[in-house]
Amino acid sequence: MEKGIRITVDGPAGAGKSTAAKAIARRLGYLYIDTGAMYRALTLKALRCGPDLPDEQALGRLAADTEVRLAGPERPDGPYRVLLDGEEVTEAIRSPQVNAAVSQVARVPAVREGLVRQQREMARNGRVVMDGRDAGTNVLPDAEVKFYLTASFDTRVARRHQELRRGGFDVSREAVEKDIAQRDEIDSNRTVSPLRRAPGAIEVDSSDLTINQMIERMLEVCRRATDARGPAPGAR
Ligand code: DC
Repeated sequence: MEKGIRITVDGPAGAGKSTAAKAIARRLGYLYIDTGAMYRALTLKALRCGPDLPDEQALGRLAADTEVRLAGPERPDGPYRVLLDGEEVTEAIRSPQVNAAVSQVARVPAVREGLVRQQREMARNGRVVMDGRDAGTNVLPDAEVKFYLTASFDTRVARRHQELRRGGFDVSREAVEKDIAQRDEIDSNRTVSPLRRAPGAIEVDSSDLTINQMIERMLEVCRRATDARGPAPGAR
């Protein structure tokens, strides 16, 4: 078996990160780490505390006191599962309520500290594809391959709209536009680990690519990086 590398995939909401990162993880047999799902799970827990989000201190305590686990799919083509303190919340974390609140939770430094620690721990042995906003800039700045995915605002809105409707959420296109614009603003301008292209990251604009073209392009980069590292010690 080859040594394996760490791959990060960052970019704004709707750029195609999770589709690409999951496909790459499957093709390479790597662990897929969806960091956004971890912020979403914590947000769901916070929203269950009451109608208003708790203050920053309480959110920090909540993060320290919460276990978010990411589990592989139950069937080969099934979804990656997200477990919040042992409860499966794979679908619940994709709701419009969580969409609207997650950036507010993810901007809190103590929340990020707690979840970033868990993310680094998961990536300790390499052979991972990490999908997020700060995976290449902050969580794994020395990853062997870093991608920064982009797409036009319209493309991103259309993708998120379709994804929500497929999930059974009846939302208008205008509502999705508003949500994505707000999240772009908060994710890019927060003080701690704002969304940025990491130094050395390869930018892929997916507006005019099919999903398969995007994945093949990215896999080619990963294969070159893996070949450059050579076989693991003892492997033939
Ligand atoms: O990729 P997503 O839509 O599931 O991410 C949900 C939110 O979590 C997003 O608005 C920003 C935040 N996030 C973050 O701050 N840092 C990450 N590494 C991943 C997501």
